[in-house]
Amino acid sequence: MKPSNRIFVALDTTDLDHALALGRDLAGLVGGVKVGKEVFTALGPDGVRAVTELGMPVFLDLKFHDIPATVAGAVRAALALNPYMLNVHASGGAAMMQAAAAASGEAADKPLVLAVTVLTSLSDDDLASVGVGGDTASQVLRLAQLAQLSGLDGVVCSAREAEALRAALGPDFKLVVPGIRPDWAASDDQKRITTPSQAVALGADYLVIGRPITGADNPAAAAKRIADELSR
Ligand code: C5P
Repeated sequence: MKPSNRIFVALDTTDLDHALALGRDLAGLVGGVKVGKEVFTALGPDGVRAVTELGMPVFLDLKFHDIPATVAGAVRAALALNPYMLNVHASGGAAMMQAAAAASGEAADKPLVLAVTVLTSLSDDDLASVGVGGDTASQVLRLAQLAQLSGLDGVVCSAREAEALRAALGPDFKLVVPGIRPDWAASDDQKRITTPSQAVALGADYLVIGRPITGADNPAAAAKRIADELSR
């Protein structure tokens, strides 16, 4: 894969003009863009459609989690937006993930369907407080294996987990990794960070990168610098 195609830029904004300007600025320099609950809640499917019309692959990060029939319906509705990737919560269970995988297969151009395992904002103590025993690493692995058995294409994970998941789940299971910081960028509120090159070395297929690009004085130059670093 061309190194720049690994980069999905997180458009975390409720301002459609800003999102579109960033997208236009970065076209050809990155693999795609990620739109999530912030864009979707503020701007709706029309906002997503406007971003999609830029012609770049879109990661629709809505993290569906509901009963199987409802998630299947949501995935079917999302297909109208023609995303390259979309996601669900693995903790919704095998039947829910199978329903999502089956619904995604109804598209002429099937999107990659990913599972969120354990949110990286949760600690071992947080898991215990919601009744999940064991540590986050084993819970992430358990849910990623369940996602694979349920027919999903990959998971969103931290780079910290990528190496073990790559070893357990094989070369074709997609690992999509946020929390990326080049060594020249501020860490912001991210704590468990890796550089783009480290994340790829650990097994990441796609890197979700927001502020190091979108918050830079020159977003296009920042994206190009990251792609150049990945090429080395
Ligand atoms: O600006 P930054 O590079 O930190 O943005 C990272 C993006 O990835 C944000 O959209 C954030 O919501 C998302 N994300 C994350 N950690 C996760 C899952 C998603 O940072 N575990």
